[in-house]
Amino acid sequence: MNSNATSQNTKNKKNVVILISGRGSNMLSLIKAAEHKDFPAKIAGVISSDPDAAGLKIAKNHGIKTAINELKTYPDKTSADRELTKVLQKWQAQIICLAGFMRILGDDFTEQWHKKTINIHPSLLPKYKGLNTHQRAIDANDKTHGCTVHFVISELDAGAIIEQTEVEILPDDDAQSLAQRVLIEEHILYPKVLAKLAAK
Ligand code: GAR
Repeated sequence: MNSNATSQNTKNKKNVVILISGRGSNMLSLIKAAEHKDFPAKIAGVISSDPDAAGLKIAKNHGIKTAINELKTYPDKTSADRELTKVLQKWQAQIICLAGFMRILGDDFTEQWHKKTINIHPSLLPKYKGLNTHQRAIDANDKTHGCTVHFVISELDAGAIIEQTEVEILPDDDAQSLAQRVLIEEHILYPKVLAKLAAK
């Protein structure tokens, strides 16, 4: 490929900002996918709701710019969401990927970024919104569990489903073993869905 074609390719890539709160393994799966030259998106930055999130260090080590948006440093949630939007606009975000981002975004935010904000959740939605999804699936004697990528609305884990991966629940699974197998699938599903969305 000549240099003109390469720079054209880079120009056409969608700008993605990833929102995290913790260890950032899904974030890393997106960063790694975006390092491939043919991936239709580039990671423009990472924003964490927690200044101590382990994922921040991983992002910095990959040369990705970072910012903090910590709820307790704002008078209320609306102000925090507004500041988030300011950073996203400054970084020219076109797609926002929530990757273990543990704050519910308000109506103003989700309407402004409607169909541009996606989330990965560790269950086969609409089953098991919220936390402890793996234990809840085991307790319900489900045969399958899995993960979902969905559009984000202000109602928790309730936006339109884009794609899911099923994971079999084995007889001797506990929440931890099941979570590990689901996480492997999350790391495959999320970059795949982002690629499709960014290519549109
Ligand atoms: C992931 O399993 C993700 O699906 C889940 O938190 C974990 C974050 O891990 N997200 C939610 O539960 C959101 N409702 P990570 O920081 O290593 O990506």
